[in-house]
Amino acid sequence: MRREKTVGIIGFGNMGSAISEGLLFKEWRVYVYDRNKRKLREKKKYFVSPSTDHLIQYSPYIIIAVKPQDIPALLEEIKEGVLIHRPLVISIAAGVSIKFFEERLPKIKIIRVMPNLAAKKRESISFISPGRLVSLKDIEIAKEIFKCIGEVVLIKESFLDKVTAISGSGPGYVYYFMDTLYKSALSLGFSRIVAMRMVKKTFLGAITLIKDSREDFSLWIKKVASPGGTTQAALDFWKNCKLERLVRRGIKKAYLRARQLNLKKK
Ligand SMILES: NC(=O)c1ccc[n+]([C@@H]2O[C@H](COP(=O)([O-])OP(=O)(O)OC[C@H]3O[C@@H](n4cnc5c(N)ncnc54)[C@H](OP(=O)(O)O)[C@@H]3O)[C@@H](O)[C@H]2O)c1
Repeated sequence: MRREKTVGIIGFGNMGSAISEGLLFKEWRVYVYDRNKRKLREKKKYFVSPSTDHLIQYSPYIIIAVKPQDIPALLEEIKEGVLIHRPLVISIAAGVSIKFFEERLPKIKIIRVMPNLAAKKRESISFISPGRLVSLKDIEIAKEIFKCIGEVVLIKESFLDKVTAISGSGPGYVYYFMDTLYKSALSLGFSRIVAMRMVKKTFLGAITLIKDSREDFSLWIKKVASPGGTTQAALDFWKNCKLERLVRRGIKKAYLRARQLNLKKK
């Protein structure tokens, strides 16, 4: 196995394990390390590193997948190894800026990425922003790595908090709406099993329909909602309640929260 196709992942929780599955699927070699040894018990195809030092020694590309609050201590821990081995470091921590890494690890090659939880099914959309010392080749490698879990878009770092508010938090908003639909189905008398099947299949069907379309969502709404019909009755009611304004305000709250978290760490 070529060393170039080797990635080390620090933090083997929700995202770290999802990314490693995607990488293994595309036949990358993956080293993983987590301070919580229980998470690494049932490993099959990955190499489990005994320490961050070991992982950095064997991996030219390191993905940092620990919670934002754990980043400062982790950077202290890996500082020396990164200085010696000069890996490309990729952080997926929400709200931790490139500057934060560059100030703590001199000469670090850092790329910040914002994927989402759909990485678990290789259906993420990951936005990537390179640091000052990153080369075009490094960017290509980061793209290749994150293509293993879905689509990749290169973007300026200043947009990343906005990405967090839309596609980072987005699966949670979708589940919220699904949950509301599910509860409505229950109150109409459907059993839990039927209500759940109905909601899931409705979402899946709706997404499959538009997946390859370039038309605006508003045109798809028109295809479902005929004037005076059932869908239109619900949509008109929501319009009167100014639901769209509420949703947009919610997104803004998420964006401001991401910015606030970012500023706190500077
Ligand atoms: N979840 C999402 O939807 C999502 C989406 C986009 C980006 N992200 C970002 O992805 C990162 C990880 O999120 P997650 O949901 O995967 O978190 P998680 O499930 O809590 O996983 C993080 C893992 O890292 C371990 N860890 C913490 N500090 C460590 C250290 N110094 N060395 C080794 N392991 C360490 C944690 O151990 P303990 O259990 O002992 O704490 C935990 O097992 C976060 O920064 C988050 O902002 C998450």
